[in-house]
Amino acid sequence: MAFKITVNGHVNTVDAPADMPLLWVLRDMLDLRGTKYGCGIAQCGACTVHLGGQPVRSCQTTLSMVKEQPITTVEGLSADGSHPVQKAWEELDVPQCGYCQAGQMMSAAALLAKTPSPTDKNIDDAMSGNLCRCGTYIRIRAAIHKAAEMAKATPAKAQK
Ligand code: FES
Ligand code: FES
Repeated sequence: MAFKITVNGHVNTVDAPADMPLLWVLRDMLDLRGTKYGCGIAQCGACTVHLGGQPVRSCQTTLSMVKEQPITTVEGLSADGSHPVQKAWEELDVPQCGYCQAGQMMSAAALLAKTPSPTDKNIDDAMSGNLCRCGTYIRIRAAIHKAAEMAKATPAKAQK
């Protein structure tokens, strides 16, 4: 079955079963490998993307659930690495192995779009579904505060 989906501003036609996980479509059909497969059961957050501006687990989001809603993956946060989350992650050297970080960044970006000046509790609540086996949580929290400061200087970049 053919579906038209908009990913990072580009319209794609994909021919796939309606129950195919969006994660498979992104990685295997559209070659967007930034989004990672961790658990496959919505428990780790590695596969987080934005659907209609909301963070979702793409391993448990089927193609038929997408409908007209735009999708943003980590590749679509910004083309040039200028999104405040990308800049803060780089500045604070957040990743260790890096495997969970695309999902972390997408959850962080969604949080900041909704809550531009998050408290530690806001951050912990929003990020609680994103696991990091390397334990980078302290740097993630600091980077989100840093990204919030950066977004105030360039507000348009925090809206994705
Ligand atoms: S791979 Fe989707 S939540 Fe773990
Ligand atoms: S940086 Fe290794 S799992 Fe998070």
